[in-house]
Amino acid sequence: MRAFVRRLRRWLSPTLRRPDLLEAREREAGIDFVYRFVLARPADEEGRARYLRRMQDEGMTLREVAAEIAASDEFQRRLRGTIAREHDEASGALAQSEALVDAGALSATLSVEDLARTADEYYRTTLQFADRYLAKPFADPRDTPDLLGSFAHLVAGLRLVPGMTVLDFGAGACWTTRCLTQLGCEAIALDVSPTALELGKQLYARLPPIGSTPPPRFLVFDGRRIDLPDASVDRIFCFDAFHHVPNPADVMRELGRVLRPGGVAGFSEPGRHHSKGARSQYEMKNYTAIENDVVMEDVWTWARAAGFVDLELAAFSTESYRVPPAEFDEITRGGRALSRYADRVRVFLQGHQTFLLTKGVRGKGEGERPVRDSREREGLTGEIAIQLERGSVGSGEPVRGTATVQNVGSVSWLPGSTPHGGVNLGVHLRARDGSPISVDFARIRLEGTTAPGRTQRVEFALTPPDPGDYLLEFDLVSEGVGWFEMNGSATITRAITVS
Ligand SMILES: C[S@@+](CC[C@H](N)C(=O)[O-])C[C@H]1O[C@@H](n2cnc3c(N)ncnc32)[C@H](O)[C@@H]1O
Repeated sequence: MRAFVRRLRRWLSPTLRRPDLLEAREREAGIDFVYRFVLARPADEEGRARYLRRMQDEGMTLREVAAEIAASDEFQRRLRGTIAREHDEASGALAQSEALVDAGALSATLSVEDLARTADEYYRTTLQFADRYLAKPFADPRDTPDLLGSFAHLVAGLRLVPGMTVLDFGAGACWTTRCLTQLGCEAIALDVSPTALELGKQLYARLPPIGSTPPPRFLVFDGRRIDLPDASVDRIFCFDAFHHVPNPADVMRELGRVLRPGGVAGFSEPGRHHSKGARSQYEMKNYTAIENDVVMEDVWTWARAAGFVDLELAAFSTESYRVPPAEFDEITRGGRALSRYADRVRVFLQGHQTFLLTKGVRGKGEGERPVRDSREREGLTGEIAIQLERGSVGSGEPVRGTATVQNVGSVSWLPGSTPHGGVNLGVHLRARDGSPISVDFARIRLEGTTAPGRTQRVEFALTPPDPGDYLLEFDLVSEGVGWFEMNGSATITRAITVS
């Protein structure tokens, strides 16, 4: 028996568990071995073929095969039979502690309210680790790369800009909420655990965001209805929380309701075999927390029913792939080493699903794609034409002219009065040799929204600089976002003399 266990360990050891490191022959032998060990019989044709296909196509590991077989009715029947034969009443406890916990069954036996309570209990009974919650993502250097890397990809996918209202769903002790505040967003931390949100308030008190940032809001969730009006948030940020939800279709509908048309909900979640992992089993047994598998086909079905029209997944890895210089060169040249790296990414992605759901602009079901706006840098390009009334003015006399600007980019320009992302025409003042005198010399206000392809014509009167010879350089600017020149648009320069 001991030799058998040693062999099993060897099969399931960390180096061998990755399917990409196993030859096809070894995969097949591994499946047979697990069948014999767990079910005391050889693998049947159908089972062998199914697991071989899932190892090949989905990157399923031998450990996951073992976990799934151990969760099967056949194994549970065998276990119960064995226990009934060998033990008396007291062995019921053994059966309970050794059986795999099934996330679906757990959701079915406990109510949404029960599970909200157990989620809070989790924090209350582990308050001695409060500092670890508050130090996240820097509580443990082994976790930091994955937390920061996953966070980075979610932020990038959501295309956040300052001023947006962002709901942090399942915020826990609020490290991500605090980051969203620091990014200038109006962050709303939501969780079923009031204890977690209290920790979040402590985090803001002990580590206040730098500068003037919008105050956060904290919202206790009853597990069913989000206490926010329809279409009231620009983005939903969900970091490692959706897979804990026992009623995902209903919650997705709530997320779709509170999100503005054209808004994006982004999720960083584990993979489709998550529930059977050792860590998930531990959490479900000891804390009655739901650890669902995240199956994208199901997510997309719920999301479409909730008014989302687009689903994107981020392909990335937060694992550092270190190689000697020669292999690095080979990777940059696109050689064979690149496919070894791609294999690593493939395995990583089995357990990391970062996905983005965009809500349609006309509401549920109608599916019209949202138009992006000038709060985002990408797609900002314009053309400028300038007509000065005169090239020289007297001291104190305004520099008058007409500007015609055209939106030749892909995003809509917000009115110039919008504090973040409003588009105006800016003027740099330069000496005749081109050296800068005042970068923000003047602004010419653009009114209303300028859709892609549309033109605006404005008359202007600029306060003149002191007497001298100058260049006025005109460039479009999205306030708080950037100058259009940085996106490749041409500026227009005119010479003036103030006498
Ligand atoms: C793994 S923690 C992640 C917390 C936080 N996002 C972070 O990264 O630190 C999962 C969070 O989901 C919360 N949660 C559990 N069930 C929930 C539900 N039904 N609705 C919303 N949040 C829930 C838990 O209370 C917990 O704070």
